[in-house]
Amino acid sequence: MSRPKSSGTGIGPVRPIDGGAPGSGPEHPRLRAARVEEAAALSAFMTRMFTEAFGADNNPDDLAMYLRRSYSAARQRKELGDPDIRTIIAEGPAGLAGYAMLRRGSVPPPVVTQPDPVELWRFYVDTPWKGGGLAQRLMKAVRHETALLGGGSLWLSVWERNPRAIAFYRKGSWMWDRRSS
Ligand SMILES: CC(C)(COP(=O)(O)OP(=O)(O)OC[C@H]1O[C@@H](n2cnc3c(N)ncnc32)[C@H](O)[C@@H]1OP(=O)(O)O)[C@@H](O)C(=O)NCCC(=O)NCCS
Repeated sequence: MSRPKSSGTGIGPVRPIDGGAPGSGPEHPRLRAARVEEAAALSAFMTRMFTEAFGADNNPDDLAMYLRRSYSAARQRKELGDPDIRTIIAEGPAGLAGYAMLRRGSVPPPVVTQPDPVELWRFYVDTPWKGGGLAQRLMKAVRHETALLGGGSLWLSVWERNPRAIAFYRKGSWMWDRRSS
């Protein structure tokens, strides 16, 4: 599915993304770009997020291989230094509360016909923060980053057996295309 580009203003790489926005007081997670030196912490968080969300749907060997390949600290270090990838983190009082990753240059499905598509590659909110509006704030930051990446549209894939994510995306102004791959 895809959505038109939002307008956005420039942000620096480590400046808080929505530090002054409503719902972003000290008790609320702050959104900012992740730093390369945070690769190890991100690796652990991403591994836990994926395992909690999808671990039960995968066989343990496949899961372990996927986690090693996709979320190792070395892999995160590389991705954090990649100019075509953006990682936005939500940082709560007790540590990471969620994250989103965008990438430019991945091949979108044929339904995405807008120019300069950017992929919303990963999008996770930790359990204590679900249902509290953090996902909406994170999505707003994603739209700003898409504009900064020069994106003309934003697209994502969601698993048909992920009703909560589908319900979340349905609340946004996405154009949907139902097909499996
Ligand atoms: C997807 C995600 C970021 C959304 O954040 P969230 O805080 O859960 O989002 P919200 O609560 O605002 O919206 C979820 C909606 O699903 C509904 N919902 C909750 N559990 C549900 C379920 N089991 N089935 C269907 N809908 C469900 C909620 O009621 C809510 O709708 P509402 O606002 O109309 O009541 C978060 O759930 C998450 O991190 N999930 C695991 C990772 C994931 O799937 N990422 C997306 C990969 S494409």
